[in-house]
Amino acid sequence: MDQAASLHHRTVKVIAIASGKGGVGKTNIVANLGCALADLGERVLILDADLGLGNLDVLLGYAPQYNLAHVFAGEKTLAEVMVTGPKGIRIIPASSGIQEITRYGGMEQRILLDQLDQLEEEFDYLFVDTAAGISDLVTSFSRAAHEVVVVVTPEPTSLTDAYALVKVLNRQYGESRFMLLPNMVKNREEADAVYRKLNLVCEKFLDISLDSLGYIPHDPAVSRAVRRQRAVVDADPAAPVSRSFQLVAGELQRRTIQPKAGGLQFFWRRILDGEPARE
Ligand SMILES: Nc1ncnc2c1ncn2[C@@H]1O[C@H](COP(=O)(O)OP(=O)(O)OP(=O)(O)O)[C@@H](O)[C@H]1O
Ligand SMILES: [Mg+2]
Repeated sequence: MDQAASLHHRTVKVIAIASGKGGVGKTNIVANLGCALADLGERVLILDADLGLGNLDVLLGYAPQYNLAHVFAGEKTLAEVMVTGPKGIRIIPASSGIQEITRYGGMEQRILLDQLDQLEEEFDYLFVDTAAGISDLVTSFSRAAHEVVVVVTPEPTSLTDAYALVKVLNRQYGESRFMLLPNMVKNREEADAVYRKLNLVCEKFLDISLDSLGYIPHDPAVSRAVRRQRAVVDADPAAPVSRSFQLVAGELQRRTIQPKAGGLQFFWRRILDGEPARE
């Protein structure tokens, strides 16, 4: 770790939200945990690293003018491409710039790292909304983050895809810390069953235990909010699902301790250098 990073008293906690299978609720979880943490006084930054449909910009109803590609091209500063979401959460739209990220040379990387250094003091959390599947980009964001939240639904395909993701990150990159968040479950019993199933195979075949972060119930209030291009925690704070997001946000606050190494710079260095994420 360089000296500049060690001088910071606070560092940003970087949390990747991943799933294996698509459509399990990652983007909604990022937006709503972001809102719930903002309500708890945390300063939240989101990196929209998902290029698929139903993106964060669609979900929250904003139209980004610029994205990370403009930062790399030296045309805009990071602060200039960021947009403001509900409850003051800030969003970095990645767009097509994200796929290019590892191809940039030393100069461009330096520009980004210097600007990130300035942001380090301004945020408490960085959430990375990843795309579906187990692409190189998804694994490198998950490896670089301090914590990985694996979103899973009770569907068997979601369970097998979540296991495939955990297995790749564990076997190939030595990751052993995963927080599990079952989504769209009927009740606590179903969430517990999902946790038990996945944890059992992880213990048996990978020799790791998953950390349970709670659960998010299936609630029609989510799609009502989505249709209004709002996060449910923001649009319908009294809905049962919003209460669940608040509980999970509290759990996350308790779990995520201050990372030792400089948060944002460290995260991007790991991505840009392609270093393994072993501690
Ligand atoms: N707890 C929930 N209750 C009801 N519906 C939900 C819930 N969570 C997500 N959904 C619905 O599931 C759909 C997919 O959600 P979302 O776009 O957040 O998933 P995703 O994992 O980000 O998908 P992708 O992999 O395509 O990026 C949305 O239409 C959303 O309304
Ligand atoms: Mg998504």
